[in-house]
Amino acid sequence: MSGEVPSTDAGPEADTSHGFDPDTWVATRKSDDLYRDLQPVDTVTARAQMAPDPKGSEPEYGDEQIVFAANNYLGLAHDERVQAATAEAARKVGAGAGASRLVTGDTGVHRALERDLADAKRAERALVFSSGYATNVGAITALDPNVVFSDELNHASIIDGCRLSEAETVVYDHCDPEALAAAMALREREGGDNEQWLVLTDSVFSMGGDVAPIADICDVAERYGAWVMVDEAHATGLYESGGGIVQREGLEDRVHIQMGTLSKALGSQGGYVAGSEVLVEHLLNAARTFVFSTGLAPPAASAAREALRVAREDERQRERLWANVDRLRDGLGSMGYEVWGDTQILPVVVGDRADALALGERLREHDVIAPAIRPPTVLEGTSRIRIAPMATHTTEDVDACLAAFQTAGSALGLI
Ligand SMILES: Cc1ncc(COP(=O)(O)O)c(C=O)c1O
Repeated sequence: MSGEVPSTDAGPEADTSHGFDPDTWVATRKSDDLYRDLQPVDTVTARAQMAPDPKGSEPEYGDEQIVFAANNYLGLAHDERVQAATAEAARKVGAGAGASRLVTGDTGVHRALERDLADAKRAERALVFSSGYATNVGAITALDPNVVFSDELNHASIIDGCRLSEAETVVYDHCDPEALAAAMALREREGGDNEQWLVLTDSVFSMGGDVAPIADICDVAERYGAWVMVDEAHATGLYESGGGIVQREGLEDRVHIQMGTLSKALGSQGGYVAGSEVLVEHLLNAARTFVFSTGLAPPAASAAREALRVAREDERQRERLWANVDRLRDGLGSMGYEVWGDTQILPVVVGDRADALALGERLREHDVIAPAIRPPTVLEGTSRIRIAPMATHTTEDVDACLAAFQTAGSALGLI
């Protein structure tokens, strides 16, 4: 076999019965209206140029547009302090970790970031992974629960962690502690003795911008001695002293596992778990996405550490974000739009999928990038535009966004 390359010119009689059929997959996605393509962007800032999908060729960027679609909420991906920290780590430590943290990829940059994260999350210890996705999948599987109780709108990485863990998954109604209590009572009646239960919830929901009732969820979990794991991906860095919702509500002692990402308000890449010393010792031995994956790149770790420092110490950065959020929410509300949520994520709910797509297209024609989100990502009848403002948007940017919503919404008869 060695050295033999399969012929690509297989001829008309070639046997394809055990192969795959990507043409049909793509065609089906297109006919189901679920096909998406990639559109390159020239820079990760509040204003950027985008290009139509060039496939394998060079992108050809268009005019500058205002981006209200990124999770870089504090605008730190392009912050000079963060860029300097990134460059310094690349120069001093290396562009990549070179190995799993358990081999030779565990650098001082990782340890410094973990100390700061543990401090910000008021936990004994933190452990960073190479993505938020890998964090959820690795942590949930390493806990090896018998049963997970998961909010129906939790992120895909939580869902995939549940699937891979082989735990029995009980999905409870969105943000509904009573539904959780009923599910736990039922499970106990059905003989859930000697089982280990894990409750999983996002803190800020990425498509709804709403906040889970974490204290009430802890009340329910505590009745059964179950553990609670909270995903703070969209909250980390934005609340109490640069912490998340768990910090805002002082729940560190009741939430067993605080998980989050470094890729959103911290403008970098990676994910973390914060919790007890012994939990971290277990995860670094048992989480397969940690053990069998190269450590987070040191420049990304250093960027996240500096971004966390800025989020904690430079209150102006957060204040600018919340001022933009308020201006947008008020402006859209007074135009007659229905804006859900109570965080920096503003879902403008129009209901019908075709209306949401048309609105997204019109906004783009006015140089505002804010994507339409439709089923299956959100529930049927709740298609929406998801607006994600940044601290680095100017008042003019925000007003341009509002003007685009006014013109586009009127033209489409939505307001
Ligand atoms: C709630 C939530 N958890 C986890 C993730 C995964 O994080 P990452 O993008 O860093 O892999 C995301 C990303 O969109 C998310 O929204």
